[in-house]
Amino acid sequence: MTHALQHSVKVVAHRGASEDAPEHTLAAYRKAIEDGADALECDVRLTADGHLVCVHDRRVNRTSNGRGAVSALELADLAALDFGSWKTREAWRGRDEEPDWEHPPEDPADTSVLTLERLLELVADAGRRVELAIETKHPTRWAGQVEDRLLTLLKRFGLAAPASAAESPVRVMSFSARSLHRVRAAAPALPTVYLMQFVSPRLRDGRLPAGVRIAGPSIRVVRSHPLYVQRLKDAGHQVHVWTVNEPEDVDLCVGLGVDAIITNRPRAVLDQLGR
Ligand code: G3P
Ligand code: CA
Repeated sequence: MTHALQHSVKVVAHRGASEDAPEHTLAAYRKAIEDGADALECDVRLTADGHLVCVHDRRVNRTSNGRGAVSALELADLAALDFGSWKTREAWRGRDEEPDWEHPPEDPADTSVLTLERLLELVADAGRRVELAIETKHPTRWAGQVEDRLLTLLKRFGLAAPASAAESPVRVMSFSARSLHRVRAAAPALPTVYLMQFVSPRLRDGRLPAGVRIAGPSIRVVRSHPLYVQRLKDAGHQVHVWTVNEPEDVDLCVGLGVDAIITNRPRAVLDQLGR
């Protein structure tokens, strides 16, 4: 099905084009940009020596050939690991056709650990507007260090003080209202997204934590409470839904008028939207 509203929905590549290429690698983000994604989603964590790297899990065990918590490893330790081979094994296990990315890649940097700084450079060099949705992971453990480092980097790239939230190519997402509050206190014009795995009773009327203008409900929340999306919209909020991979869920989101679809399959969603 194609949709009349198709052009108003942003397609956000979740961890890059992470169905096709290993999540959170340059390979996955390059593919998402080639695929035409409007925005890239990434999770950020602090290394032991204070760098922000794009890794989802607390440990590197699932997505690399190493072991241990990101927070216990230095950037040099992480740089020695391969974040691509697990995906090759998974791709060959799960499907018949060859994955359309090369492993090992010609340039090992394509599947080595990705710093947020390198991702910001990639976006700056994309040759078109590509937005970035950056999720702070477990920021409460680090008493503001994740946000401090994030804002330092965004300032260096001239991204911390957009003319308006609507014009900002960067937004910061979190399940932690406190993390979003820290970001807004230091960079008031930067848009923030409150992620939700369920709707807490005090937010059922469509309210969000103070100062947050974008709701980030999971697709499960949207499926089970479709009227909640309208309540959020009536309250003047944007709605960005994750992680939307099934065609019927894309239809549901578009039908409800959500503002962004966060997906592991940006090309498939763009095709479905007729873009
Ligand atoms: O985009 C939000 C979504 O990524 C939150 O869940 O676990 O994939 O980081 P998770
Ligand atoms: Ca995430």
